[in-house]
Amino acid sequence: MTILVTGGLGFIGSHTVVELIKNNYEVVIADNLANSKLEVLERLYQITGVRPIFYQIDVTDEALVEEIFRKHKFAGLIHFAGLKAVGESVEKPLDYYYNNIVSTMVLSKMCLRYQVDKFVFSSSATVYGEQPSPLREDMELKPRTNPYGETKAISERILIDTARANENFAVSLLRYFNPIGAHESGLIGEDPNGIPNNLMPFVTKVAKGLLVKLSVFGHDYDTVDGTGVRDYIHVVDLARGHVRAIEGLDTGVSIYNLGTGKGTSVLELVNAFIRVNGVDVPYEFVGRRSGDVATCFADVSKVERELGWKAELTIEDMVRDAWGFEQGGE
Ligand code: NAD
Ligand code: UD1
Repeated sequence: MTILVTGGLGFIGSHTVVELIKNNYEVVIADNLANSKLEVLERLYQITGVRPIFYQIDVTDEALVEEIFRKHKFAGLIHFAGLKAVGESVEKPLDYYYNNIVSTMVLSKMCLRYQVDKFVFSSSATVYGEQPSPLREDMELKPRTNPYGETKAISERILIDTARANENFAVSLLRYFNPIGAHESGLIGEDPNGIPNNLMPFVTKVAKGLLVKLSVFGHDYDTVDGTGVRDYIHVVDLARGHVRAIEGLDTGVSIYNLGTGKGTSVLELVNAFIRVNGVDVPYEFVGRRSGDVATCFADVSKVERELGWKAELTIEDMVRDAWGFEQGGE
């Protein structure tokens, strides 16, 4: 069974490629290297002993995508390719709308044309907006008011409507909470360009001495210690969730939260990092970051019940592996 993985050299895509290969799938990767490096392909070979077929293409380019669909018979595809920086999406809305929505449309169209029946889509907890946690899949979508969040909500809509109109086309919308960590080998992980926006990659850079200190955004939230609470999930657990989603996809539309169901505060995460890795992470409290919510965590009962998938790795595993990757990158 061959699976097309768009964005397969990126953070979540690369870990999913490892899990797919471990489960005996053949993998074809399409990635334009907009936010990843070719070197990841070699790392995937080091981890799995298999060299996935790789196309360096932009998946918004219909002609190039069609060539791949003509060459291979896919059992399904997982669409990770997308731009994901919230702040940048506000500055460059057209880049985000074009890249994230046109790619979803081109790939869906090719699926229908070449009878590829399973489409797994990378959505985000951001589609829930500011609703009280635990967040459930049947809640109304209120994406946070930024173009990135909108592209996820619109892509979900496009896929739902396409599945409704084509009975063989089955769609799985996976809403990720906060993926962190890395493969235990330290060979692949999260490697953002420039100064990281997200907490975990910022912490590893401070621990390594590449950044002076962490700014903790807000310590007056109504949470356990006043800092923001999120549902951090190990990227390897998340990757395994994709294998279950592909296996469990039958007909229609399935929507699942991929999280742990547990909230962890910024200070709890930073303290776990310091304790587990025995390194210092200097930090200071600063004001809240605009657009942040106090608390965001998943209700994970649906995915557990329907797919038999459950996150297994702990916060300790996440901080250990994130640090392992940062050191591997030395
Ligand atoms: P990433 O940037 O590491 O990976 C995305 C990959 O897609 C990159 O390798 C990039 O080069 C590629 N890409 C982007 N546009 C492309 C295009 N038009 N054609 C071909 N390749 C293209 O990001 P990630 O963290 O692995 O995220 C994967 C997906 O999951 C994204 O759609 C993202 O929006 C979604 N998501 C991520 C998070 C998170 O916290 N990391 C949370 C929720 C949802
Ligand atoms: C991010 C995305 C969001 C996406 C979500 C899940 C942004 C702005 N938002 O949000 O669209 O749906 O991941 O993947 O990127 N923090 C600090 N200092 C820092 C960085 C973060 O204190 O330097 C705090 C934040 O205030 C928050 C927590 O750490 O409480 C996690 O932040 P982050 O990693 O950016 O994730 P989200 O805010 O959940």
